[in-house]
Amino acid sequence: MGVRLLARTLRGMEEVCAQEITARGLGTVERLRHREVWFTSDEPDARLLDLRTADDVFLVAAVIRGVGHTKADLARFTQPSRTAPWRRLLRLRGRCGGPATANRIDVVASYVGKRNYNRYDIEDTVGEQAAAALGLPHHSRRDGAVPDDGQPFPIRVTVEGTEAALAVRLTERPLHRRAYKQESVPGTLHPPLAAAMALLAGLSPGDRVLDPSCGTGTLLIESRLTVGGLRTLGTDHNPAALAAAVANATAAQPPGDTAMAQPPGDTAMAWAVGDTAMAWAVADAGRLPVADGRADRVLSNPPWGLQVAPGGTLATRPAAYYEELRRVLKPGTGRAVLLLHDPETHLSLARAAGLRVQDSRPVSLFGSHPAVVTLSG
Ligand SMILES: C[S@@+](CC[C@H](N)C(=O)[O-])C[C@H]1O[C@@H](n2cnc3c(N)ncnc32)[C@H](O)[C@@H]1O
Repeated sequence: MGVRLLARTLRGMEEVCAQEITARGLGTVERLRHREVWFTSDEPDARLLDLRTADDVFLVAAVIRGVGHTKADLARFTQPSRTAPWRRLLRLRGRCGGPATANRIDVVASYVGKRNYNRYDIEDTVGEQAAAALGLPHHSRRDGAVPDDGQPFPIRVTVEGTEAALAVRLTERPLHRRAYKQESVPGTLHPPLAAAMALLAGLSPGDRVLDPSCGTGTLLIESRLTVGGLRTLGTDHNPAALAAAVANATAAQPPGDTAMAQPPGDTAMAWAVGDTAMAWAVADAGRLPVADGRADRVLSNPPWGLQVAPGGTLATRPAAYYEELRRVLKPGTGRAVLLLHDPETHLSLARAAGLRVQDSRPVSLFGSHPAVVTLSG
């Protein structure tokens, strides 16, 4: 029988995450739940850690049914938390590239919908039972921060409707925390969402991919780590953001990819006319240094968000952003995948510039509800 796993992702990106699991041959997708993709694998291994659209991957320890919303329902967690095959999962975790040892229990719980108990009630119930089963200490989060020393055994509990899942995270460090992301700016993109946008863009080796408000470069870096042989150009009007993008790209550079970290400079036109593999340039997204019809794909989260104000020409004329997208996208096959806060306002500007909406997917992002929108020229 296959090993049951679940990948947690952003609300709205479950389907994209399922597609990545299938495309990478990591297992057979069984079902989707709120923020979760459940799948089985006969031979799970460290390739699971390559998943880019998932925030984290877990080994399923137990499924508990009939969990209602009253405090009495907490009792339903007791027996499964005591009898779950924790030791076998700890060994399996080692086989999947995670630590195979632990010296304390760490439980995080979340649920969908209203309940008469809270996350700490669930965490303490599960934590005490798992601690007894494994002979390890458990510290309640109810009283504040838990010690972050030693090697935790990270148990995740999720409850949706009347079904709860107990699962063990594969890695010590969350998968969404990318080692390359050493430099950050306000509004920087959550890497698994950047990876999901790259997948939605349908990138092919050799494509010219532009991010005209690239910030720290997350979208282009995730694109390059997903598909080889791209020719990417990141521009931003803020030189400090570009410097951060170059630093991150240097840290992300896979072996053999010498193009990841060009210093910002006069390379945009080279990208526009030639075969430069990766370029960064200071530029205003309302006046791009790119020839007409040059970009196969545009990937971006423009500065209409909650944390970054548009500067340059966009401060007074946001429509210029969409007019430039329309101009630089390759006619017919060109596509732009954008993360838009306030999609209604911006889609009317995009339509006015002659762009067509191919797809729009709402996503929940730390309390905000933007949309990932695909436009064609
Ligand atoms: C939401 S952030 C992008 C974050 C980026 N995706 C990342 O992961 O770090 C928007 C970016 O737009 C840039 N920006 C603002 N006005 C601009 C303009 N007129 N031209 C180009 N970039 C601009 C800001 O400097 C900021 O880096």
